[in-house]
Amino acid sequence: MFPSVIVVLLLISLTCGENPAVQVILTNKGLQYGKNVGAGWIQDKLELITLPDISGGVDIVIGTIYYTLTGITITKCDFPEPSVEFYEDTTGFKTSIAGLSVALTGGWRTNFGAIHDRGSFDMAIFNVDVTSVVELGKDPDGHLSITSVSCDAQVGDVDIEFHGGASWIFQPFVKHFKGRISGEIEERICPNVRESIVNLEYHLQAANVSFDVNEDITFDLPLTGLPVIDASSLNLGLKGEFYSTKTHEEPPFEAQSFTMPEQPGYMLSMGLSEFTLNSASYGYFSAGLLQTSINDSMIPPGSPMHLNTSSMGRFIPQLPKMFPGLLMNLLVYAREAPLFSFHPGAVKLDFQGAVKAFAIQPNGTQTPLFKLNVDSTFSGKVWIADDTLKGSMGMNNFTLTLAASEVGTFKTDAMESFAKMLSPVVMAAVNKKLGIGVALPRMKQAQLINTVLKIEEGFIAISSDAQVLPTDRGFN
Ligand SMILES: *[C@@H]1O[C@H](CO)[C@@H](O)[C@H](O)[C@H]1NC(C)=O
Ligand SMILES: *[C@@H]1O[C@H](CO)[C@@H](O)[C@H](O)[C@H]1NC(C)=O
Ligand SMILES: *[C@@H]1O[C@H](CO)[C@@H](O)[C@H](O)[C@H]1NC(C)=O
Ligand SMILES: *[C@@H]1O[C@H](CO)[C@@H](O)[C@H](O)[C@H]1NC(C)=O
Ligand SMILES: *[C@@H]1O[C@H](CO)[C@@H](O)[C@H](O)[C@H]1NC(C)=O
Repeated sequence: MFPSVIVVLLLISLTCGENPAVQVILTNKGLQYGKNVGAGWIQDKLELITLPDISGGVDIVIGTIYYTLTGITITKCDFPEPSVEFYEDTTGFKTSIAGLSVALTGGWRTNFGAIHDRGSFDMAIFNVDVTSVVELGKDPDGHLSITSVSCDAQVGDVDIEFHGGASWIFQPFVKHFKGRISGEIEERICPNVRESIVNLEYHLQAANVSFDVNEDITFDLPLTGLPVIDASSLNLGLKGEFYSTKTHEEPPFEAQSFTMPEQPGYMLSMGLSEFTLNSASYGYFSAGLLQTSINDSMIPPGSPMHLNTSSMGRFIPQLPKMFPGLLMNLLVYAREAPLFSFHPGAVKLDFQGAVKAFAIQPNGTQTPLFKLNVDSTFSGKVWIADDTLKGSMGMNNFTLTLAASEVGTFKTDAMESFAKMLSPVVMAAVNKKLGIGVALPRMKQAQLINTVLKIEEGFIAISSDAQVLPTDRGFN
């Protein structure tokens, strides 16, 4: 396994200078589940389709009979378990089905010179074998691409019973031209397979690799390198970067490479680098969105402290003397983009912020008073329970330092102690929200089940099974 990990890393680093911040791994368990869903779907669909007409000519001793088989529908389909495997030779999949048998019914028409005739027929096609190999790749925009590399189809045998018209005349010739009909069918299988692959490729090209999360932030998710396939999994490396919709500015840090642990017991694994979270943080920061204003009307009326100059005299004795009886305003903002880091079992957050205090003059003018730097570190956990991503946070460290003052110097110790005293109340409110959590994405057709999450050094690893919802097996 180790050499293949090195190959994965080499490929990723060779194909693109950029490390993926998101990795998605499809395991063999996932591939086989997908195959079963797909096979069931194909079987349902097969019974609904009408096949294109088959026509041709057959030389009999006394001339050529031109025939058309029309309105061909499948009456019964014996669909054996197909096989799908990861195919390293082409970085793709190899799919095969062996021993497919189909019963068909339809109408026939023949022209033999001036003689026109018609009737119905029943046909059985036995032992159809189809093998298709596809290659996965990446287009210049980072879409996953799929192309047909080879397709091979063989029809074992065909049997036809004609009814009506003068079918009794040519029924005896069936054994002479059934080879041709089985050839016709054989020739039609691979073009159809290739057409569905082209169709799938069309959908992949049309898929978005960039999503507007909200009006402020966009999530970019193109492939950063070629898909990597080994005998047991498919690994897709994706950019996984948030940008501010407004500035689209690159953060001053890069995604670090990480190696996802093997999780063959789950259908899917996803690795999310701390870079992804930090790019979101940087996106909000660079757009100037990490700031908020606090005024006295937001403080509960019963609070012992109020945002006014006399109340603040407790911490800054000279303030009520210089600006008696004025309400205050606080502008709280991040000095740097808050940085998240993932460590085994824990998420850490470094917040470097500042608070600018203003006095509100009776005429509405805001007079700057002082600026404090606020540095704090938080650590927390995230986990998944009841299909919901939940978390909890605690404050580790909190320091206040005076950065500038228009009211002369003052000590920040008392204010810092007071803020620390308040912090459990604030953290309880934050944790109440984190405890409610966010529901895991749930699509119309499928949902994630048995999802587990583990925080590793530098990334979060999520492993999950998927379940296609039985009520709406729609691939529309
Ligand atoms: C792709 O993104 C664009 C712009 O965000 C949106 O208008 C469009 O509907 C999206 N297409 C799909 C298939 O999601
Ligand atoms: C406080 O802020 C809120 C919301 O920003 C605003 O509606 C309100 O008028 C402000 N109150 C004062 C006293 O400035
Ligand atoms: C300032 O706050 C104190 C409580 O800390 C309150 O008693 C006082 O009325 C407030 N003054 C103004 C001008 O709002
Ligand atoms: C508002 O009041 C302050 C203090 O009294 C004064 O310095 C300032 O010039 C006034 N501003 C305006 C626009 O009247
Ligand atoms: C808290 O921050 C101060 C100042 O940045 C630092 O000296 C101290 O070591 C930190 N304490 C912890 C527990 O991180």
